[in-house]
Amino acid sequence: MNEAPIGIFDSGVGGLTVMKAVMHRLPGESICYFGDNARGPYGSRDIGEIRGFALEIAAFLEDLGVKLIVIACNSATSAGLLEVQRRCRVPVLGVVEPGARGAVQATHNRRIGVIGTRATISSRAYLRAIHALDAGATVHSRACPSLVDFVEGGEVEGPRVEEEVRRYLAPLLRRGVDTLVLGCTHYPLISKVIGDVAGEGVSLISSDWEVAREVEENLVRRGYLRDGTSPPSYRFICSGDKEQSIKLGRIFLGPEVEKVEKVELPA
Ligand code: DGL
Repeated sequence: MNEAPIGIFDSGVGGLTVMKAVMHRLPGESICYFGDNARGPYGSRDIGEIRGFALEIAAFLEDLGVKLIVIACNSATSAGLLEVQRRCRVPVLGVVEPGARGAVQATHNRRIGVIGTRATISSRAYLRAIHALDAGATVHSRACPSLVDFVEGGEVEGPRVEEEVRRYLAPLLRRGVDTLVLGCTHYPLISKVIGDVAGEGVSLISSDWEVAREVEENLVRRGYLRDGTSPPSYRFICSGDKEQSIKLGRIFLGPEVEKVEKVELPA
């Protein structure tokens, strides 16, 4: 038994989609969420810089005493999962491998589309993860840089979002993908628009539920689940605008986002 919280982080509010799935699967667990909104979005930054951010935040969460870390950001997972795992004392999970596994299991025609940030797509992390599971699958990827900005601005539907999604998905749909990986934790928040544009024949895969399952497996095997005699606690920390984090956090996660602490990370 281990009463410590699980640490989850992202460049902003996207990782709340993963937190929601973890809360649903493990309602007794405490969680400490960090949104790096002072420096996010990460997607158009240099890979080495994103890796540096991930290392810094993971060290910060470890110092807070978390028992496991989830990098709930595809860009940061692609840029730095291995390095963060090497440096941390606690187990660290990313979001790319679970998404790749979900896609390989769901596809019928083995043509898989992947959408994500520039950093995630240019790292080719999904291509490697999918081919590690099915070397014969065909992967069509597309960076969709503007979608994170819509979500961080609280715009998750409407004609502007729809037009962008249509533009981004067109080449993937032309290639006949039957499965589309939402390779950015912000995208489940606009999955209604993405699903409408992709159409019924395309399965959408997001890693949140897969990651939640992996978190549970990890905690069970290590005997790290909380005993559940006291209610779990949720702590929200950001590096930038607190008011915006509360506003979006309430919309995307729920009333659990009562207050958000702001911290300056040591450079
Ligand atoms: N939600 C993140 C991801 O999964 C980050 C998006 C960004 O900061 O650009 O990639």
